[in-house]
Amino acid sequence: MSVCYLNGEWMELSAARVSPMDRGFLFGDGAYEVLPAYSGKLFRLDEHLRRLEHTLGQMGLPNPMSRDEWRQVLRGIVERNGTADQSIYLQVTRGVAAVRAHAYPAEVSPTVFVMSEALVTPTDETRASGVSAVSAADFRWLRCDLKTVSLLANCMLKQMAAEKGCMETILFRDGFLTEGAASSIFVVQDGVLHVPPKSHLMLPGITYDVVLELARDRGMPFQVREVLEEEVRSADELWMTSSTKEVLPITRLDDRPVGKGKPGPMAAQMYEWYQDFKQGVMRRGG
Ligand code: PDD
Repeated sequence: MSVCYLNGEWMELSAARVSPMDRGFLFGDGAYEVLPAYSGKLFRLDEHLRRLEHTLGQMGLPNPMSRDEWRQVLRGIVERNGTADQSIYLQVTRGVAAVRAHAYPAEVSPTVFVMSEALVTPTDETRASGVSAVSAADFRWLRCDLKTVSLLANCMLKQMAAEKGCMETILFRDGFLTEGAASSIFVVQDGVLHVPPKSHLMLPGITYDVVLELARDRGMPFQVREVLEEEVRSADELWMTSSTKEVLPITRLDDRPVGKGKPGPMAAQMYEWYQDFKQGVMRRGG
């Protein structure tokens, strides 16, 4: 049983209905966010709402709710779905149009949908062994900074990993690292953490920001700069980070070991800091 929110109403997820004329369905014309709720408290809520505002603004889609209204709905969904850790999904599409036409319709009201799923973070065993990844050319569009529901390219890229029993696909564009199909990618070389700078070629990850804040505040050497494909392939450590995977070591890339083929000490250190930070934030109320 799972309660969702659709256009101002609370209902069972299985009872929710959207028209096939919704532009989210016809064109992938919508924005989304995924945010964790730990013990009933939403993690980095304002940062997620800010990124949603960025996506909607760039799409020319007026935000249907104020920050306070979003906070109420998101807290409402968490309260209605129990106390276990949750992964909250929100989606805003441009709405249901009378006819199918690419340009934005004048008279349309956005569709707002929010649901809760169980938050499944990697198990201790997965974390202890690390995960495998494949690599691929990043064939997505040039607005990867927008978190839109047009995710076919990401799905195709992630499927490449799934078909090889791997967790993630690491993407390269013109010889440089961009990110993963559904995560940010960090590279450790000679005791220094490296990550590409935010740009139109990658999603500005919420976890990316937390990791860099922790590195800065707690003294892990890091550099935000373009990372060459060769540097990824010869890294001592690779990590994938996201709201649901947190900080997860990648120990095999394209069937070759990463570094010593085991999770490295810097990943373990960052994971510990991340958990500690999470606990602190949750104690202070989300
Ligand atoms: N994806 N890059 C891409 C392409 C992503 O899809 C994600 C997250 C990230 C990491 O962002 P964050 O740290 O804000 O979760 C980077 C989510 C979890 C998803 O689509 O399910």
